[in-house]
Amino acid sequence: MTMLRALQGDITRLKVDAIVNAANSSLLGGGGVDGAIHRAAGPELLQECRSLGGCPTGQARLTHGYRLPAKFVIHTVGPVWHGGTKNEAGLLASCYRASLALAASRQLASIAFPCISTGVYGYPPEQAADVAVAAVREFLRTPRSLQEVIFCCFSASDLALYRARLAQEPA
Ligand code: AR6
Repeated sequence: MTMLRALQGDITRLKVDAIVNAANSSLLGGGGVDGAIHRAAGPELLQECRSLGGCPTGQARLTHGYRLPAKFVIHTVGPVWHGGTKNEAGLLASCYRASLALAASRQLASIAFPCISTGVYGYPPEQAADVAVAAVREFLRTPRSLQEVIFCCFSASDLALYRARLAQEPA
């Protein structure tokens, strides 16, 4: 059984096997959680990211964590919110699935996600939390190496959204 939990904090401080970065398709850094992860990991992270040649929306790429407490960073590119008619939910679910699949392929035991797409990319936080929790639960219906999946919320309001969803039985 994989444990799912939500906490409030800075994802760059978490000592887990992998943290997920809400990146953009260049993978060359940016603001928000992406900027925080690159600052905390150090310049070697950008160097490795340059070698990856970008990443399409909904997919994920793995790098080392360098100076982070986390061993790896899984970079995924969330959708920009356009009102919900551009397959945003499908692409966001794909980010969670692709990140978990990469972690499982490396036999990782713990992973932490930020609230992908809900900052600069404008995805409504309630709807994003619905997609995130459903996608993670669905992926974990097949047993995997993962023992712990953390939803790392930056704000108290995001934490409340995740706590409410995790308290409900899966549909
Ligand atoms: N730890 C955990 N969560 C954080 C942290 C942190 N240190 N810092 C911010 N958040 P955003 P997006 C939360 O904008 O919407 C970048 O420029 C934040 O409160 O970082 O996917 C990329 O390069 C919010 O809940 O990512 C892309 O261009 C969540 O992380 C673009 O932004 C995501 O907000 C991606 O936009």
